[in-house]
Order: sequence, then structure tokens, then C-alpha cells
Amino acid sequence: MIENDLPAEAITDARTFTDDAALHGLLARLRRTDPLPRVESGTTIPFWLVTRHADLTAIELDASRFINAPRQAVLPLAYEAHTRREGQGYQSFMRNLVAMDGSEHRVFRAISQSRFLPKALNTIRLDIERLAAEFVDRMAGKGGSCDFAGEIAMWYPLRVIMTILGVPPQDEALMLRLTQQQLSSQDPEFAGAADDAGATTGMAAMKRMFDYFQPIIADRRINPRDDIATVIATATIDDAYLEERDVFGYFVILATAGHDTTSYSLAGGMLALLQNPDQLEKLRADPALIPSAVDEIIRWSTPVRHFCRTAVEDCQIAGKAIKKDDVLLLSYPSANRDETVFEDPFAFRIDRKPNRHLAFGTGPHLCLGQHLAKMELGSFLREFLARIDHIELVGTPRFTEATFVSGVKELPVRYRFK
Ligand code: HEM
Repeated sequence: MIENDLPAEAITDARTFTDDAALHGLLARLRRTDPLPRVESGTTIPFWLVTRHADLTAIELDASRFINAPRQAVLPLAYEAHTRREGQGYQSFMRNLVAMDGSEHRVFRAISQSRFLPKALNTIRLDIERLAAEFVDRMAGKGGSCDFAGEIAMWYPLRVIMTILGVPPQDEALMLRLTQQQLSSQDPEFAGAADDAGATTGMAAMKRMFDYFQPIIADRRINPRDDIATVIATATIDDAYLEERDVFGYFVILATAGHDTTSYSLAGGMLALLQNPDQLEKLRADPALIPSAVDEIIRWSTPVRHFCRTAVEDCQIAGKAIKKDDVLLLSYPSANRDETVFEDPFAFRIDRKPNRHLAFGTGPHLCLGQHLAKMELGSFLREFLARIDHIELVGTPRFTEATFVSGVKELPVRYRFK
């Protein structure tokens, strides 16, 4: 990796995330020279940038000292000013797992957790494999070339999670747009016209989703089925349904966290395989490597660019004096290229073992959907590799301009099926 002299403040600039070499050149230098810098760019609130695997892990595991509730992400001040103005309204209609701590978080997480463990997911494995085959068919039907990110990778994980939540296929385009407007609203393609870094658009999208899920929640309470939507809609605490904002928050976190992330990993994984043809051939020759390839793809793409924690007391980390209420920004892309943990971290190796990546976080908030995401990626790769004869990149990949969740959004490819 060629280190660069970008200032640490560049981590607050969404454009940095459209250039993998620039991003990793900056993070590699920081890990070596100043692994926990204080970032005061003037465009966001000040925060500590956590770049090392060991520091990030220690912070996430010490969940009573470093909490989620006050702040989950650092977004441009223009964005935050808007959400603060709308503050009360926002809090009153939407709350979810990532904004909870301690026993409350444990209780809410337990409502759906068992449904996302491998044993329960095995009951929908065949459905996921069928959907994977449908999307490989869709690719085959495109006559030998397509934008793999925009036409395939964006839609397949969306279909999976929307099936789980009871959203019919004709509404998926709407759900995709609403998710992108919430998670990646800094990108000019999703931001809308207002001069607030996409905040107006993002909030409107959230409200629109709220209206959308209302009838589904009401329906599952009257006509319960054996699905995750019913589990959440009919969950009770102290014999009462969850508050409306909590049920809604649950649907929204699954609807949003559940696909953009996986889509970016699928597109980023395809790009990595195309840029490393020896790894593609190796995988094709030995599909038993698919599980480790999936892990490497997720490490490599790391689509969740950060989450935050807030310190509840003064403390020392990496020799820096952290004050009560200071915000720590956990840089997952940085931890996943940490030279002290990964051998040759800038090599994409489908048989990397061990692979202690942190793309799903760790500790009590460890990604709820990690097994689902891995099942989706594995099913797609299995089907794709069995049927593809040749594939190549035919243009320049483009990345989403966003500091929170981002990845490859355009990937022009040409291919031949067997
Ligand atoms: C939380 C990454 C797919 C649902 C998280 C976190 C990360 C993450 C970094 C925060 C962890 C922490 O704070 O320690 C990813 C990546 C994915 C992915 C990289 C795909 C490659 C999914 C899917 C679902 C999902 C498919 C659908 C069920 C969630 C939920 C949380 C979460 C509900 C909040 C958990 C909590 O706060 O207790 N994810 N995720 N994710 N993810 Fe994922």
C-alpha cells in the first residue's frame, strides 16, 4: 500500500470513500504514525479516529464504558443540524437496536436473534439458493454484459430481506431508493436538492418507510405467519406489544442494514475477483473454498465504514486522554487492513485463514445478520461459478460517495455463460 499525506480530516469527506487507494493510503499511514488522532475538520463534530484492530476490539467489548445511545454515526454538520431541528419528531417515531445499550439492548435483540442463527436460517436456505439462481439467470438474460453492481448485486440481497419482511417484489425499487436515501444520502445521486448533505431527503425517506410498514405490522398482528415480520410485529415485553417506534425501528434496521451492506460486499467481491484472476480461477477450481472466500470478500469490501461509541468516563486509549462524552469513530476498513493482525493485508486471498476481520463489528452489537449475509454471498458464488465460463471488467468501477455505508455502485462487466 502506498501511503499518502492526506490529513486525518479527509476521513470526514465522502469523496475519500470513492477512492480505495486514497482511503487505505491514509489509514495505513495513521496506523503507523498516529493510530488514534483527534479529528477536528470543522465539517463534523470533533471525534477520535480509531484505526487499530486491537483498540477497536477493546472499545467494542467494553460496552459499559463506551456506549451506543447518544450517537451511532458522524455525519456532516449540515446534516446533523437538520436532524436536530427535527429531533423530537425523529426520536418519537423511530428507535432501534444500534441506539440501545445494556439490558434494554439485550431484551430487544433477543426478540429476533434466534431467527438469524445458522440453524434457523437453514430453513430458508433453499429459498435463498433459488433467489441466487434467479439472479444468475437474470445476468445470463442480459446478453453478455451488464452493470453487475447496479443491475444484479443491488437487487439480490434486497429480494432476500424484503421476502423476509413481507414486502412484495413490485415495491422493491421503492425500498431500494428509500434505503439509499437514508444510508448514503451524502451521495449526490441520492441527496436531493436541499443544501443539507441529504438530510431532508433522508428524513423524508424514513417517514415514507414508516408509513409503508404500518399496514404490514397491522396485518401480521391479525394474520400471524411463521416469519420474521410476525416475530417482530407480535413481540411483547411485559405482556404488551412493543411501542410503535420500536416495532417500526426494528423493521427499518432490518430493511436498511439488511441489503445495501451485502450488495456492496457482493459487488466489491466481484471486483476483487476480477482484479485478481488467479483467485477467481482458484475458487472456480475448488468451490470448497467458498466459505473462506466469502469472509475475505467481506474483509476486503468492509461496506460499513464506521460506527461510533461515546465514552461515559475519562480514560486512556493508545496513550491519548479520552474525556467523558468524547466520541470515538470506529474505522472498520482500517482495522481490516491492520498489518499486526493480517499477514499481507493488502493481498486479496480467498483462502485466508485465520481471518479475524471486524466488518461485522464485535461485542454485544455484533451484526445480527452476519450469517444471513454469508449465506447469501455463498449461494450466489456457488451458482455463478458453476455457470460462468468467462468474465472481465470493461469499464471503470464507481464507488458511492458516503462516509457511513458505501462501496462499489457501478461495475461494468462482459461475460460468457457455459
Ligand atoms: C449491525 C455490518 C449485513 C442486520 C452491524 C454492525 C456492522 C454490520 C459493522 C455494527 C456492529 C457493531 O456495532 O459492533 C454488516 C455487514 C453486512 C451486514 C458488513 C454484510 C456484508 C446485515 C444483514 C442484516 C443485518 C443481512 C439483516 C438482518 C444488522 C442489525 C444490526 C447490525 C440488525 C444491529 C445489531 C445490534 O445493534 O445489536 N452490521 N452487516 N446486517 N446489522 Fe449488519
